[in-house]
Amino acid sequence: MTTPAPTPTEPAEVSKGLAGVLAGQTEICSLSGTLRYRGYDIEPLARAGDFEEVAYLLLHGELPTAAERDAFQGRVAEAARQLPSPVIDALERLAATAPHASPMDALRTGVSMLGLVERDDTPGDREALLAQAERLLGQTPAVLAAWLDMTGGRSVAPWPDAPLGAALLERLMGRAPTPAEAAIFGTTLVLYAEHEFNASTFAARTVASTGSDMHSAITAAIGTLKGPLHGGANEKVLEVLGQIGTAERARPWVEEQFAAKKVIMGFGHRVYKDGDVRAKLLGELCRALVAGTEGEAIEALAAEVEGIMLERKKLKPNLDWPAARVYHALSLPVKVFTPIFVVARMSGWTAHVIEQIGDNRLIRPLSRYTGPAPRDYRPLSERSAC
Ligand code: COA
Repeated sequence: MTTPAPTPTEPAEVSKGLAGVLAGQTEICSLSGTLRYRGYDIEPLARAGDFEEVAYLLLHGELPTAAERDAFQGRVAEAARQLPSPVIDALERLAATAPHASPMDALRTGVSMLGLVERDDTPGDREALLAQAERLLGQTPAVLAAWLDMTGGRSVAPWPDAPLGAALLERLMGRAPTPAEAAIFGTTLVLYAEHEFNASTFAARTVASTGSDMHSAITAAIGTLKGPLHGGANEKVLEVLGQIGTAERARPWVEEQFAAKKVIMGFGHRVYKDGDVRAKLLGELCRALVAGTEGEAIEALAAEVEGIMLERKKLKPNLDWPAARVYHALSLPVKVFTPIFVVARMSGWTAHVIEQIGDNRLIRPLSRYTGPAPRDYRPLSERSAC
């Protein structure tokens, strides 16, 4: 088929997957040199592991004072404790009907329902949007924990009185985490919080650019994150490690995947071609976490796979590679790995939606048409089956 010549307004080249395309601007996050949130290097933020301070920074533009941080934590926890009863009732009925549904689907549906019951008298108002974002930060982990209780046949437990990361971890583990467990979990939330124009954030900004509402944008973002090439990869990583089993099996297993033209989950990245700074940082913390435990065997296997991927494809791990191992070391079920990513990325998504609305232009790219050449329409009566 011959490719039609571009029209005068059409660029000559198509960038498949929008790779390398500057699709907008943002003050929230930069990836040049290293990852920075609003100008702050990711490393000290991640080592502090204080999700509330990072979520505040992303949403409000500056790091909070101690008083601002505590007030913020209080507002978020209040939202977690006060899920609207129509949403709880609907989730209970859905859990009884579809107990095996993915928690990602429950979150996507839960956020959509929260949008349905919430009254928005001042659409587009910045303060109202910030308040919605703060509520979503608390409501999302609470919906996740409630769904797990409902589908596990338990009554919904109260939201713990702790910072968001430690509170969610307590709800997921069924016991209060140790300080070391809460610290590394907080670090994963900080590392997952924001990442510029990734697929789910771009989806959220596209929805917001049409003049639609916060909950519609976030619902689209959750659906986008679910895919295994994006957030869903952290669940697939544990499948990979389970399938390989032992370090000796690593090379033949990886070669089998290459031969079948399959990608190895947890490796490669659209933007980081020389390694993901987040993966390096969390990989070190993960090895320290499991030192002296049975988890060392998984670390040895992971190191073997990393060596093979570097040697064979020059590919380094992305954040999902160590994050899955950390969550596994914390004995969390695989089905909550991507939902935890949702809880963290809610901060980045909502910040981007607010930024998009504050300086909006409809996101509407072009496509290159490659279908049939122009042809004449014939009425149905003239089209005979042959
Ligand atoms: N395993 C094996 N090969 C991989 C790979 C992986 N994880 N990631 C990339 N490659 C290969 C591609 O197949 C391509 O090979 P080719 O040139 O022979 O066709 C080459 O490396 C370049 O990849 P590229 O096209 O630049 O990747 P992308 O930017 O289109 O895709 C991802 C980026 C993240 C979608 C891709 O790396 C991937 O699928 N990774 C696994 C899923 C994952 O971990 N997702 C989480 C991302 S944070």
